[in-house]
Amino acid sequence: MHQLDPAALLRRATELSRAIAGTTAPNPAVGCVITDATGTAIFGEGATQPPGGHHAEIEALLAAGAAAYGGCAYVTLEPCNHTGRTGPCAEALLQAGIAELHYIHSDPNPVASGGAERLRSAGVKVVQHGQLRSEPLVPWLLSTRLGRAHITLKVAHTLDGFTAAEDGTSQWITGAVARRRVHADRARRDAIVVGTGTVLADNPRLNARPEDGGEYSHQPEPIVVGSRALPEHSHLAQRGAHRCASIPELLDYLSARGHVDVLVEGGASLAGSLLRAGLVDALESYTAPTLLGSGRGISGGGLARTISEQKRFVLESSEVLGADVLLIARSPQAHRLLIDREE
Ligand SMILES: NC(=O)c1ccc[n+]([C@@H]2O[C@H](COP(=O)([O-])OP(=O)(O)OC[C@H]3O[C@@H](n4cnc5c(N)ncnc54)[C@H](OP(=O)(O)O)[C@@H]3O)[C@@H](O)[C@H]2O)c1
Repeated sequence: MHQLDPAALLRRATELSRAIAGTTAPNPAVGCVITDATGTAIFGEGATQPPGGHHAEIEALLAAGAAAYGGCAYVTLEPCNHTGRTGPCAEALLQAGIAELHYIHSDPNPVASGGAERLRSAGVKVVQHGQLRSEPLVPWLLSTRLGRAHITLKVAHTLDGFTAAEDGTSQWITGAVARRRVHADRARRDAIVVGTGTVLADNPRLNARPEDGGEYSHQPEPIVVGSRALPEHSHLAQRGAHRCASIPELLDYLSARGHVDVLVEGGASLAGSLLRAGLVDALESYTAPTLLGSGRGISGGGLARTISEQKRFVLESSEVLGADVLLIARSPQAHRLLIDREE
């Protein structure tokens, strides 16, 4: 039988974790695959359950049953080594008789780390695949290191950098394919934030809707920043969106709620506040090949007086979405924290 490649098995584990992203905060979204001793057949798969539920390793071990004995575990994050709401996964893997562990990211949380060493000292062969990355884990990894929620700023803009026309209208700059992507993206976030200006101008719903018109099963919590009253019948007032009067209040609220992965959807004034405070960790820029000549920019200005003060991000990926382009970039700080990993 054909032996499966460790990198392919870890990619499979990543796929499993992508499906549950958004449902595990404050815990990380982890995926796990259990194979036989030669890595030829998959016996069990699992992903992190909502807080209080099983970690990915336990789900995969339950699926594998007795077949896990003498087998290999492929996990996107180092198995935890502490008792929180659930027992240590390192011990569960040992008790199940796992002989080999492959994982991608070390656990940056000093309380939970040490699982790899625990297994190694018990005679398990342990291999870290530090050259790989499990994308669904990145906001959690960075949030743990930053000590606050990971913040992604999403902007949809024209080729000349405008997010709205002079009269404040902004629907629709990008096309249907990009909008579908935005909705799928919302469905894997813990919270979604806008300023009062956007509520007053656009009356957004901010929920995650697939094309069939329903709602994704996971919805991010909507949050509004600013002090102006929201119209009583606006969608967000009706949904009882939480209000924060300042950025520090927003950060405190995100932390109190255990939100790890947060999407900010504008507008320019809120985006500028966050950019100036160095709080934007990732940028998702949807660019449409259209021009407005004037209007509202991405940040409302005040970021740089001269070119040496420009806020340059590090390009992560680019993708054509129908008639538009999506660029994803990380702040230099987030980029450094990610590449200066412990391995
Ligand atoms: N193309 C896109 O991606 C996109 C996305 C969203 C919005 N838009 C467009 O952008 C326009 C709205 O822009 P905008 O700049 O007025 O809206 P905004 O950024 O959503 O809201 C501005 C308000 O947010 C609050 N705020 C911002 N920074 C703050 C801080 N540091 N502390 C406390 N409160 C803070 C203030 O509220 P208070 O004044 O109430 O205190 C401020 O007036 C609309 O035309 C909309 O269509 C475009």
